Amino acid sequence: REILLPQSLLLNKKILITAGPTQEAIDPVRYISNHSSGKMGLSIANEAARRGAQVTLVLGPTALNAAHPAIKPVNVTSAEEMYLAAADHHKQADVAIFSAAVADYRPEKPAAEKIKKDQANYTIPLVKNPDIAQSLGAIKRPNQYHIGFALETDEGYGSAKKKLKSKNLDFIVLNSLLDPEAGFQKDTNKATLIFKSKEEIKTPVITKEALAKIILDHLESLMGTTET
Ligand code: CTP
Ligand code: CA
Repeated sequence: REILLPQSLLLNKKILITAGPTQEAIDPVRYISNHSSGKMGLSIANEAARRGAQVTLVLGPTALNAAHPAIKPVNVTSAEEMYLAAADHHKQADVAIFSAAVADYRPEKPAAEKIKKDQANYTIPLVKNPDIAQSLGAIKRPNQYHIGFALETDEGYGSAKKKLKSKNLDFIVLNSLLDPEAGFQKDTNKATLIFKSKEEIKTPVITKEALAKIILDHLESLMGTTET
């Protein structure tokens, strides 16, 4: 007799994941960025690939690399490049997971030459970057699933709920930097999953690999309840 293993609902599904930081050029040698390592997004990419999904990983500059053959990496530098790459792959995607730490602003006009220190003060005009999760959330199809993240320096509940709504997400994963185990460059995380349905789930302190499994388990259960 054959033993039938339960099949993942992610088998052969196309998943778009944004991950890592973005870099916004100030001049040819300098940029604005943040401390994102891309670990969380990469953990999700690996776990989704293990479950049989075809993953496109739109990845900002990071030392980390995708290892699984089912992950197609698309390397980008700036938020605008990340937006264009993500929008392109979103058309075919069944699921989009926005884990990137996208720079909210970029220098309006990067200097063509290295900026000299010959002024007492120097001000860089900044303009807003595209909001990838929000723009793609606005064109999300009924059969697509979107997941976002919110990293907050305070407890962060109110703003995570606003982001869930304004970005048209199915759920958002809230991390608070108040928590010493969570956040940038760490191997562990502690999160609250807040769903469109108002349901909330708190995880204990766990590894980013374990959190990736929890996130994809919840995605699969959403897919299982909304698919016929
Ligand atoms: N995000 C995005 N594009 C941006 C900014 C954010 O796709 N330009 C996504 C992130 O990947 C994350 C979610 O939106 O999934 C929330 O990001 P966050 O920085 O917490 O929120 P913002 O909307 O940028 O608001 P703020 O930084 O002012 O809190
Ligand atoms: Ca932001």
